[in-house]
Order: sequence, then structure tokens, then C-alpha cells
Amino acid sequence: MKEQLTIALSKGRILKETLPLLAAADITPAEDIFSSRKLIFDTNHSHIKLVVIRATDVPTYVEYGGADMGIAGKDVLMEHGGAGLYEPLDLEIARCKLMVAGMKNAAPVSGRMKVATKFVNVTKEFFARQGAQVDIIKLYGAMELAPIMGLADRIVDIVDTGNTLRANGLEPMEHIADISSRFVVGQPSMKIKHAQIQPILDQLGAAVRAKRDQEAQS
Ligand code: ATP
Ligand code: PRP
Repeated sequence: MKEQLTIALSKGRILKETLPLLAAADITPAEDIFSSRKLIFDTNHSHIKLVVIRATDVPTYVEYGGADMGIAGKDVLMEHGGAGLYEPLDLEIARCKLMVAGMKNAAPVSGRMKVATKFVNVTKEFFARQGAQVDIIKLYGAMELAPIMGLADRIVDIVDTGNTLRANGLEPMEHIADISSRFVVGQPSMKIKHAQIQPILDQLGAAVRAKRDQEAQS
């Protein structure tokens, strides 16, 4: 009898790139995730289920054993802190950067800087390492608006093409981290269910390498 395994997937922009990788590792949902309101999906393996949840909830589910494994952006994992998780595989999808940004040609900030972000912990740590004390304003989206409206001097947010910054008169200022999506495994699951998890890691790793090779050739 095989142990039951659950993989937590981030809904939203990662999901589209996640499913082909899982398929290459021979894990496919039993029905179309995009047209369903379900949150739990059977797969082509009777012992593997997928749950589809908000990106920021993935590390929490895996940390507390609600799911054995998960897929989430490094930004989300950094903000979570990584407690109780192994991060054995970089899936090399949803690549972007976590950056500090502000209004183009902004004057230097006098006094305590106000920084708007949804990455409160990462931001605190980044500025603390520079010896700077900042006031952090927690937002849940549209961070680029905060400096325009005078809510904050800087933002910490995801930058990919830079189009959102440019379109709103902002510019990137400091690089915090390169981001991509990672496969994570709960530490107890890795111990208890290792025999079943390792082949999934091996197949996913092979799928990532095959995709990388294919992209290098095209
Ligand atoms: P939540 O569901 O909690 O609101 P979210 O809106 O950040 O989270 P998505 O927009 O689906 O979720 O983003 C998921 C992940 O995709 C992010 O954690 C990040 O790693 C990556 N990502 C976000 N924006 C971009 C982008 N513009 N280009 C590439 N990758 C991105
Ligand atoms: C993300 C991020 C930036 C934008 C960056 O937002 O928060 O706003 O992408 O990408 P770019 O550099 O290519 O413009 P998203 O589109 O996911 O919307 P959200 O703010 O609702 O998360």
C-alpha cells in the first residue's frame, strides 16, 4: 500500500507553468483545474492528490503537514521564513526579481523612510542589514500606487519586465533577490514518506533539466 501524498499548488500565475512540469513527472489532475471550483483534485495516481490554494498559503500548509509538498515562489518562501520546510528543487518557472523601487528621480529621503510592501519580513530584514530603520506599511496589492499617492517613499515588490514600474513613473533602485518557483517538502513528510517522495523529486528534476535544455536550443 502506498502512503497518501498531497501536493499544494499555488493558484494564480504559477499554476499554468506548474501543470506541464507535473505532467512531465507523470502527475496529471483527473479533471480540468481551471474550469472547476474544487479545491482538491484526484490525479492519475490513486495515492497522489493536488490542492489548489493561494500562493501565500502554500508554505503554511506544508509546514503544518496539511500538505506533504508544495510549489511556491521564492518570494513567498522568504517571507514565510522556511520553518519546517525543505526546498530541494528550483523549478525555474515564474522568474522575476524582488526589488526596492521608488518614484523616478526621487529626492533622497530625509528622516525615517516609509516602505510599502506585502513582504513585511523580507523588507524589515533587508533594511536592517543596511543598518536602516524604516517604517513598513503593509499592502496587499498595487504597491506601485503607494509612492504616487504619498503613502510611502519606496516599495518592495516583484519586478519582471519593469513595465508596471515604468507605466507608473517608478524605477527600480535596489535588488533584493532573484525569484523563481520552488518545490518544497515538509520535513516530517520527507522522513516518513521519503520512498514515495524521492521518485517525484527525481522526475521533476529531470523535467526541469529537459525544459532548460529545450529552451537553450531554441
Ligand atoms: P496571492 O494569491 O497571495 O495574492 P499573488 O497575487 O502574489 O499572491 P501571483 O500573482 O499568482 O500571486 O504570483 C505568484 C508568484 O509568481 C509570486 O509569488 C512570484 O513568485 C511570481 N510572480 C509574481 N509576479 C510575477 C511577474 N510579474 N512575473 C513573473 N513572476 C511573477
Ligand atoms: C506583479 C507585481 C508587479 C508586476 C511586475 O503583479 O506585483 O506589479 O507583476 O511585473 P512587470 O515588471 O512585468 O510589470 P501582478 O500582475 O501579479 O498583480 P498583483 O499586484 O495583483 O499581484
